[in-house]
Amino acid sequence: LKVGVLVSGSGSNLQALIDSCAAPDHPAEIVTVISNRPGVKALERARNAGIEAVTIDHKTFADRTGFDAEMQRALDAAGVEFVCLAGFMRLLTTEFVEHWSGRMINIHPSLLPAFKGLNVQQRAIDAGARFSGCTVHFVTPEMDVGPIIQQAAVPILQGDSAESLAARILEQEHRIYPGSLRWIAEGRVKIEGERVLLDGATA
Ligand code: GRF
Repeated sequence: LKVGVLVSGSGSNLQALIDSCAAPDHPAEIVTVISNRPGVKALERARNAGIEAVTIDHKTFADRTGFDAEMQRALDAAGVEFVCLAGFMRLLTTEFVEHWSGRMINIHPSLLPAFKGLNVQQRAIDAGARFSGCTVHFVTPEMDVGPIIQQAAVPILQGDSAESLAARILEQEHRIYPGSLRWIAEGRVKIEGERVLLDGATA
């Protein structure tokens, strides 16, 4: 399965995907990494792994449609069959999302459907939640809503800051995101309505 990864920042999830796909028996290959922000660490991680690293700066486009069309062109040029969003911080047009329907996943640092959107670690702490975590899900036009593939929970501890909680969640992100991609590449993940059915996959 030829995979394209969209990033905006540090790319620690990208690194986890790169490391996982490096296994000789892995059925997925990351063929391109695209960032909407120039100079980010994620691009360096891609280059270090010998993967094409592309910058498509959203600021150089008049609107989201033009930006998404350029991303589509780059994904097609690289032969991408499946897209992973890994800390990609731009909203995507409905047209782009529908084009990749069932073929694009995201990792989000909360236990969806709780705490969609931004600043979710601080919001979970402020809500007095005892647990948070992360969710891998298919991307649908509405943000942070699509069918859930995998989740991991972590405790929220007394004295946690957004940073300490984010670090605890990230450890789990780095475990479940590669796991979900592997299941998908092995053909074990099916969407049935609003839910995901896993065939023989164990968390
Ligand atoms: C992660 O917490 C991810 O869940 C969120 O953005 C962050 C990206 O981190 N969508 P990184 O760039 O993968 O290090």
